[in-house]
Amino acid sequence: MILDHTHSERLYAEACQVIPGGVNSAPRSILPHLMFTSASGATLTDADGHRYIDYHAAFGPALLGHNHPEVNRRVRDLWDAYSAAGVGSTQLEIEVARKIQQHVPCAERVLLCTSGSQATFHAVRVSRAVTRRKKIVKFQGCYHGIADSLLLNVASPADKVGHCDPGSAGILPEVLEQTLVCAFNDLDNVEQAFEWHGSEIAAVIVEPIAHNVGCLSPQPGFLEGLRELTRRHGALLIFDEVVTGFRHHLGGYQTLCGLTPDLTTLGKAMANGFPIAAVCGRAEIMNHFNTRPGGDTYFAGTYNGNLVGCAAALATIEMLEREPVHARVFALGERMRRGLSEIHQRLGVRAMVAGFGSIFLTYFMEGPAITYTDLLRNDGARFVDCRRRLIDCGVFMLPVNLKRNHISYAHSEADIDRTLEAYEHVLKQVAKGHS
Ligand SMILES: Cc1ncc(COP(=O)(O)O)c(C=O)c1O
Repeated sequence: MILDHTHSERLYAEACQVIPGGVNSAPRSILPHLMFTSASGATLTDADGHRYIDYHAAFGPALLGHNHPEVNRRVRDLWDAYSAAGVGSTQLEIEVARKIQQHVPCAERVLLCTSGSQATFHAVRVSRAVTRRKKIVKFQGCYHGIADSLLLNVASPADKVGHCDPGSAGILPEVLEQTLVCAFNDLDNVEQAFEWHGSEIAAVIVEPIAHNVGCLSPQPGFLEGLRELTRRHGALLIFDEVVTGFRHHLGGYQTLCGLTPDLTTLGKAMANGFPIAAVCGRAEIMNHFNTRPGGDTYFAGTYNGNLVGCAAALATIEMLEREPVHARVFALGERMRRGLSEIHQRLGVRAMVAGFGSIFLTYFMEGPAITYTDLLRNDGARFVDCRRRLIDCGVFMLPVNLKRNHISYAHSEADIDRTLEAYEHVLKQVAKGHS
């Protein structure tokens, strides 16, 4: 049955009259034009009253589930006491920074901001300030937010891989020239970049698991190699843990892989959906920021360390400390991945299941999925088609090629099993060629 989206479409048309394209963030534009009116736990409700099991999780923050009562209560509790003096620091800011320092191995010092993009922007800027070098190495398939130096070569089409593929008009070519794009999981490629430009490279920035194209896990030795190469050549290593931080471990993926970068960026699951982010790292580097007298690298923001984000972050982190959130979402992730693989086998579908912990997705291709070029074999049309059909079955996975799915602490085994049932039904429909 195709769901009726009349009210969503009406709201969307209204939004388009004032907001270009009807959305305030480009990746939110999807077909069908769903508009959601409420979210609770593992479910979303759209403007037509349809409920969905949600795996989009607003691109990742909702690790505890939407509208978590404890997080919301902590935000509400500070409401009457709320003030934004805009001078000095509050007790809450200190507590959040302490928690990060306590859990994230590289975090000798912490600065709070309000989005992942700000965090990566500052990490790049301070890397350039500290090393007095210009070039940044990033990886094909990794996304680090909207900064000019980083917005290139994410989900590039085949003909753009190996070339500069800016994610926007308006970025100066002189800026793009200073970013070298290497292949994820190809250490030889990074070594070559260092051979040619070693003395010019300020930093290597990497998502330790490339989650912005689903899930490319680092091959054994890859992250270790980046650590070794950056040290040898006097460049900094930045782990962008905006997705992996808090979601995979309280101390980020660096805790799981036992490697300590020089700088780390955090956001998303840090506050279960409230706006806060952080850049943290070695004291010697962080002390370059001019929040400290004598620092030479500008760091500011009217809403940095805002109390709403801080209260939510503290509540979220304390919840992650107290409850077996990671054990639970990892187990549900396993159940989902196993179930998907069994369905593919049963139906003889050429597909591979990828993921880590609470993250999962199906690529419609045979493995392996090691580097971005492997993902060019994915059948993008089928990927999107299946997800659109899942929407009609009450399951919401963003219907956009290569997007990952997230499981939260609010999902149940029954949610996973219902999703698997719906998924099998959809694959059978597709096999029969239903329109
Ligand atoms: C790995 C990574 N870094 C940075 C960002 C940018 O974060 P924000 O959208 O909060 O600016 C994102 C956003 O998706 C991300 O996935």
